[in-house]
This record gives sequence, C-alpha cells and structure tokens, in this order.
Amino acid sequence: MTDPVAFDVVSEGLAEVHRRLLPVTDGEVASYIPQLALADPDDFGIALVSMGGHRYEAGSSRTEFTIQSVSKPFVHALALAELGLDEMSRWVGNEPSGDAFNAISLEHGTGRPANPMINAGAIATTNLVPADSPAERSARILDALSAFAGRRLAVDEEVYRSEAATGDRNRALAYLMHAAGSLRTDPVEAAEVYFRQCSVLVNTVDLAVMGATLANGGVNPVTREQVVPEQVAVEVLSVMATCGMYDAAGDWLVRVGLPAKSGVSGGLTAASPARFGIACYSPPLDRTGSSVRGVVALRELSRRFGMHLM
Ligand code: DON
Repeated sequence: MTDPVAFDVVSEGLAEVHRRLLPVTDGEVASYIPQLALADPDDFGIALVSMGGHRYEAGSSRTEFTIQSVSKPFVHALALAELGLDEMSRWVGNEPSGDAFNAISLEHGTGRPANPMINAGAIATTNLVPADSPAERSARILDALSAFAGRRLAVDEEVYRSEAATGDRNRALAYLMHAAGSLRTDPVEAAEVYFRQCSVLVNTVDLAVMGATLANGGVNPVTREQVVPEQVAVEVLSVMATCGMYDAAGDWLVRVGLPAKSGVSGGLTAASPARFGIACYSPPLDRTGSSVRGVVALRELSRRFGMHLM
C-alpha cells in the first residue's frame, strides 16, 4: 500500500466511503459523561496508516476527541510488557464476556474480570501497571499512549472532571473487584487513574498510528520506536479480536474480520497484522457503545479492500 497507484486507490476508497456515510443520522452521542454530549455528531474522520508509515486520511481526521475505551488495549500492552501473560492472566481473564462494556464481571472462584477490554477488566489492568503512586501510574500510561501515537498526548482536564463527577458505576466495579481480591489498589484511586487514561486527547490519525503499531509487531511505523515487544502485540491483538467490540465482537469479526477496539466518544481503531492500522471517528453510537458510522465504514472498507483476516 505504499506505491503511488495504491496511494490513489486507498485515498479514493476512504474519501468515497466518507462521502457516502456522512449523511447517516443513526445513533446517539454518549451523554452519561456530560462533556461527551458536547461532541459534534457531524464530525467524521477516517485514517489508515501503512507499515511504511504512510498516512491516508478523509474528513475530520485531525479533530481531537478523548480516547475513552480505545485506550484499553494499549494500556493492556503496557501491563503485559511489565508483567508477562501468565501473571496478567492471574488477575484479568482473556475471555469474551458477551455483556455490555460496563457490566459487573467477577469470575466465579477468583473474582477476576472476564477480559481487559470491558471497564472492570480495564480498571484492573490499569492498576497492574507498576508505579509508586496513582500520579506516577497516570504518567506512565500517558507516556505509553504517546509512544503508541508517535507524538506527545495530553489529558483533557474537563472531560476528566466530568468522568470523575459521574463515575460511580466504575468506582462500584472497582470496589467489587477489591472485595473479591482481584484489585489490590485503593478502589477510588484505581478509578481515578482509569478516568485520566480515558480522558487523553487523540485524533483519528493517532488512533490509526496506534493500531498500526500493534499491527507492526509493536514498532511504531512512523517513529520506528519499538513500543512493546512483538509477542505483547500478538497477545493484545488476540484479545482485541475476541473482546474488543464487547457484545458485538462476534458479529464484528464475521463482517469486518480485524482485531479492533471502540470507545464511547466515537473513536475506533482496527489492525491488520503486518499490513496497516485503520481508524474512524464519529460520535453517534449504536446500542453497544460503538460508532455507527465507524462500524459501517469498516465493514465497507473491509469488503472493498479484502481486509478480512479469515
Ligand atoms: O468508563 C467509561 O464508561 C468510559 N470512560 C469509557 C467507556 C467506553 O469507551 C466504552 N466503549 N465503547
């Protein structure tokens, strides 16, 4: 996808899908975090980043938004790189839950959350990142997300405050895991670190670079930095394939065929191993919490360019 002919074909493909899906009016912008309700439902960006670091873009691909749950696989990667798969798996499972992203998830017997892509599993994963304080943990996470994106990222403090003000359900998940023995840090502090991680500002190109870094064996294709070991990238992509789209993960894998992760601000990233990362941003969401335009765009682009891995 790096020669001039492919460049034109891919650019035109993104532009055409963008043009056709822009008039779609289905879906609702998330409002349970009040600041997210301020998003413009007409914003719609698509970006693809190849293993050669080439960027292809359409629409509002440089509009910034908070990363929300799209942070989860990248923080999972950071924790995996530190702890290794066996130790990580003692605390957080690798199984699809089939439930909503904010469901209570406590495995019978161990109290483990089902996987690192749902909120419960992400709160546990975030707090497995080694650090001496919540502030140091947040700083390490921001550094890692920035390395994946290939540029210095920052927290949107207003979204963070909005999440913290309305985040009782996430605190409740943290308390339940703490009571079950699967979360060792203070539940309120654990939720705060997770809220800050969700409030990091990105644009669609960033999400495509982040997906492309996982697709490229952990090496950022733009900066050439090895962000996580290749084995970690393989493990994260595997969990994204089965759990990244929550209770729509099966339908997504059948129709799109790529490991992916969505977030409630309307971001979505997907990775084609050894080929590219691809991302969308469009705030109106379907009932599972994924971007309506993003899901349809990926379905169409997958068919058009033969992206399905199977
Ligand atoms: O914890 C929350 O509810 C949000 N900060 C993130 C949830 C999310 O993005 C779910 N994805 N679709």
